Amino acid sequence: MGYVKSNHNTMGWPKPNISILFTTVSLFVVGIVVLVRVSGCEEKRSDAVLSTYLHLSVRRRRSIVRRFLGLRMAEEAVLGYLQNNDEINDSGEFAAERGIDHNEIVNVVKSLHGFRYVDAVDIKRETWVLTDEGNTYATLGSPEFQLILAIPPEGISRDELQKKLGPSVFKIACAQAAKNKWVEMGKQLISRKVQDVEDRVKNLLLQIQQGQGIGSDDIKALKARKLIVPQTWKGYSVKKGPNYAPKRKKVVTDLTRDNFQSGEWKEIEFKEYNYTAKGQPLEGGSLHPLLKVRAQIKQIFHCMGFEEMPTNNYVESSFWNFDSLFQPQQHPARDSHDTFFLEAPSTTKKLPEDYVQRVKQIHESGGYESRGYAYDWKREEANKNLLRTHTTAVSSRMLYQLAQKPFSPKKYFSIDRVFRNEAVDRTHLAEFHQIEGLVCDRGLTLCDLIGVLHDFFSRLGMTKLKFKPAYNPYTEPSMEIFSYHEGFKKWVEVGNSGMFRPEMLRPMGLPEDVQVIAWGLSLERPTMIMYGIDNIRDLFGHKVDLGLIKKNSICRLGIE
Ligand code: PHE
Repeated sequence: MGYVKSNHNTMGWPKPNISILFTTVSLFVVGIVVLVRVSGCEEKRSDAVLSTYLHLSVRRRRSIVRRFLGLRMAEEAVLGYLQNNDEINDSGEFAAERGIDHNEIVNVVKSLHGFRYVDAVDIKRETWVLTDEGNTYATLGSPEFQLILAIPPEGISRDELQKKLGPSVFKIACAQAAKNKWVEMGKQLISRKVQDVEDRVKNLLLQIQQGQGIGSDDIKALKARKLIVPQTWKGYSVKKGPNYAPKRKKVVTDLTRDNFQSGEWKEIEFKEYNYTAKGQPLEGGSLHPLLKVRAQIKQIFHCMGFEEMPTNNYVESSFWNFDSLFQPQQHPARDSHDTFFLEAPSTTKKLPEDYVQRVKQIHESGGYESRGYAYDWKREEANKNLLRTHTTAVSSRMLYQLAQKPFSPKKYFSIDRVFRNEAVDRTHLAEFHQIEGLVCDRGLTLCDLIGVLHDFFSRLGMTKLKFKPAYNPYTEPSMEIFSYHEGFKKWVEVGNSGMFRPEMLRPMGLPEDVQVIAWGLSLERPTMIMYGIDNIRDLFGHKVDLGLIKKNSICRLGIE
């Protein structure tokens, strides 16, 4: 059997195994609390540990106390022995001599080494352990021996013998007994050749079980029969370390008022600061990717001199959401299949009456060079409450307010939630977030819109843009915005835009030469592209993995 004392020098020893150290230390704490309580003196700080301990089942408590006492005994044995002796040569022998579980000695040595009470050097030994088959023979005897016992002096027929032993044992037993020349395999009968035999195999197995050494030929034979397998045994040789003391000192973590008053502070040993310890991961304060992208986009708008519009109302009237935007009352988007209408309160209470009249008129018969839609505009339809389907409802309210004062140019933006009664799929939910920007000034043209869009989208990292004519009831001309995606190698639709119609602006009271250019896009689309999410349900809603929210990367738009 090999006995190796490894050359690792003590300093090169791996750092103490933290998890073992932790369990050892926490077991100590629990143990100390138990003992402290038993001896009647109480410690305030131990109360939390004690209450945890008292919530455990009686069995768990017993096993903790047993383990604690075991570890304490093992620690006393190691430190006590080193007080009068230079070295523990072999932790295995040391444990066996004292009847202590070797694992406990190993744990204690690791922990003591961590605090440099002891220095330890690894010892590795190749040992042999019994296989399941080996264990069976160590108790029942080897098959060949069982065979001899089963043969009566007058011999026995093959069939009968097989019946007695069972086919598998019989097969092995015959082969081995024949090899040993123990039996005569006659045609009719099997009979003994020898009278007294010793079950050597069983004895060797028992020796191995008890940790005794056996000759190399025997090892070979037992290994060939798969009755034993090699196993590496690990232990230590242990010496006093630089911080050796016969008893572990209690190190103090906090300096208290009592320490000062009693003068103890002069003697107390303080626990060293661990500057490399990692802090606890923060549980709170993580931002959802949508919030990160929103913050960046807000910053872009602010850099461009835009003011944020107040979007704090999910519930809107049909009037502001549709009518004020010159969206006719028969428009399919105003159907309950597309829009969520409110049951309670189902209608709005207050609308600016004179403005309502002008809106009614522009829908019914036109004005300001428009022919209108020529239908019966119904107030009840305009009163219906709904969950806003776009943030353009907010833009409309803001432009109306602007029109009530002497005109001044404005740049406004909003980013908030909107709702649509849509079939949900990988890329659509019934709610999402819209980003909207508008510029209101005298003499604006489509070129201004295109220029602002280039400025805005290039700040998002989208430098190549294309525009396609489109239709919105409230803009003319209208353009869909496409951006070339270098990763996807194709043009992707990124937004919608246009110049607000005079039919929308003039009834509000804005001067005739004032134009408004505006655009809108979803917050989800760029966020999904940026964070590599291809199913919207992984980004928003109850199926979102909380890990995504804790671990997602920071967002810097426009920087590759
Ligand atoms: N309201 C439009 C939408 O919901 C976006 C848009 C805003 C279009 C402003 C033109 C002007 O898609």
